[in-house]
Amino acid sequence: MDFPLASLIVALLVLLGTLYPQVEARAFFVFGDSLVDAGNNNYLATTARADSPPYGVDYPTHRPTGRFSNGLIIPDIISESIREPSVLPYLSPALTGARLLNGANFASAGIGVLNDTGVQFINIIRMPRQIEYFQEHQQRLTQQVGAAQAKRIVNQALVLITVGGNDFVNNYFLVPGSARSRQYRLPEYVKYVISEFKKILRKLYDLGARSVLVTGTGPLGCVPAELAQRSRNGSCVPELQQAAALYNPQLVQMINQLNGEIGTKVFFAVNTNQMKRDFVNSPQSFGFVTSKVACCGQGPYNGLGLCTAASNLCPNRAIYAFWDPFHPSERANRVIVQQILSGNSEYMFQGNLSTILSTVDSRIAAIDSRT
Ligand SMILES: *[C@@H]1O[C@H](CO)[C@@H](O)[C@H](O)[C@H]1NC(C)=O
Ligand SMILES: *[C@@H]1O[C@H](CO)[C@@H](O)[C@H](O)[C@H]1NC(C)=O
Ligand SMILES: *[C@@H]1O[C@H](CO)[C@@H](O)[C@H](O)[C@H]1NC(C)=O
Repeated sequence: MDFPLASLIVALLVLLGTLYPQVEARAFFVFGDSLVDAGNNNYLATTARADSPPYGVDYPTHRPTGRFSNGLIIPDIISESIREPSVLPYLSPALTGARLLNGANFASAGIGVLNDTGVQFINIIRMPRQIEYFQEHQQRLTQQVGAAQAKRIVNQALVLITVGGNDFVNNYFLVPGSARSRQYRLPEYVKYVISEFKKILRKLYDLGARSVLVTGTGPLGCVPAELAQRSRNGSCVPELQQAAALYNPQLVQMINQLNGEIGTKVFFAVNTNQMKRDFVNSPQSFGFVTSKVACCGQGPYNGLGLCTAASNLCPNRAIYAFWDPFHPSERANRVIVQQILSGNSEYMFQGNLSTILSTVDSRIAAIDSRT
């Protein structure tokens, strides 16, 4: 007669859940580009996709999922670190019912801060649309748990936004004499991208986001794709490095300004540039044999074209910093997430994730005790 025992346990768990609603899982919302896309582009008519082998070769299922990685990407590893299931791509038909409470991943490979970034990829989810989906998600949450609880889930959620690299790689520097490079000198373009990014962050705040990790760009000129296309001698490409050098400090400045306007720390700048420079400059100290040659690809540095079943594929993905010509390997993503979790103020300017989450929880507890 184990059936009554099982139902007793279920009843107890339901009761506990009612008594202690604060033990519910924290929701996680992800916005951005291919560095954080968990598979939305699989559902779209676009060329920016990672849905065929060897993508996913080290994923638990060993199958491609749409992630631009041999295995996990940064949002998965953050979820793993805070002991929660990975959030599903917003377009996944499996994102229904109780799973809506875990949050959603709205990211789409190829997008940028600007609407005209990634036009060559045709049908991708640009930032304004990602934000509309966030609103839609909140409406679905409200239908399920009521407006007050939906608002609480969103306020308490962790949010990650990774965007900006494509505004250089897949826009300004995509072709010589690109429309944007004829319109703006680089310093003016950077200012424009930052000012548009600020509007996006403000919108996330207006929609209830209260703890938002905002990543800067990596050393854009050092990725295998740029080494292959533009570097004569294997050193990082100066124009793209200059773009990152102008962009990242202004991003931090803009975030400080926005937090100041709001009156509290909502946005947290992640110094992705330093995190990646560490393993680009000194791959051996992280156990990588190289940070110049991609594991999967062809041509110099395995940096030309796409990673496909016909590409060179390294046997041990854990010793390569770059999986494909643009994207870090799972191992490199783990190095980055470790710094997000517990890095000092050189890596996490306004505090690391362990600090952020405890601050949010005490803020929420303070609100709860007042109501
Ligand atoms: C981007 O597109 C959205 C609508 O799709 C529009 O509201 C917004 O103004 C556009 N941004 C710029 C800078 O043109
Ligand atoms: C590589 O070439 C660039 C100019 O294209 C130069 O600035 C740099 O010093 C060179 N690096 C090495 C290691 O020779
Ligand atoms: C980052 O997080 C750790 C906890 O993992 C904490 O001990 C440390 O002081 C934090 N560092 C900074 C600079 O906030």
